[in-house]
Amino acid sequence: MSETIRVLLSEEEVDAKINEIAKIISEDYNGKQVHLLCVLKGGVFFTCELAKRLTIPVSMDFLSVSSYGSDTKSSGVVKIVKDLDQAIDGKDVLLVEDIVDSGRTLSYLLEYLGNKNPRSLKLCTLLDKPERRVVNVNVDYTCFCIPDDFVVGYGLDYAQKYRNLPYIGVVELD
Ligand code: IMP
Ligand code: MG
Repeated sequence: MSETIRVLLSEEEVDAKINEIAKIISEDYNGKQVHLLCVLKGGVFFTCELAKRLTIPVSMDFLSVSSYGSDTKSSGVVKIVKDLDQAIDGKDVLLVEDIVDSGRTLSYLLEYLGNKNPRSLKLCTLLDKPERRVVNVNVDYTCFCIPDDFVVGYGLDYAQKYRNLPYIGVVELD
């Protein structure tokens, strides 16, 4: 089976929105240092682009969870594959994700991180598919709400492909 990719959000649209969100976050965290927690691998492109645009002091750490296999179906299983390198107690933590889909991953992570005594804990996502929500998650910063389509690019993959696309595209199976 092969697939084609239809552009949903252009590189320019994504860039402009990240600029906007970065400005809002910089204002909200004025006078503080924000500790960005990037969820690998999908969140890495968005985290870097966001970090470059923040005007407040930034520190960063990475974690990795497993939630999906190599197709477009959720396994429903959330497991920490790579844990934090640095403690987050007393830090103003901003969890950065590529997409909130069922909400299972984020709801698990928010509880996991919340138990580590951060001073604050917020969530920022590039994409949100609200129609797909199974578990309620409070998202503080959302760049785009999108319909229930499987998307790739800007860190998001389909069977590990297309993460490097500089735009967001919908996968159409031929
Ligand atoms: P959730 O736990 O169902 O919210 O799933 C979150 C994770 O599933 C995301 O961080 C992505 O890695 C993956 N995912 C969900 N929807 C998509 C999609 O449309 N394209 C690529 N990955 C997706
Ligand atoms: Mg992800």
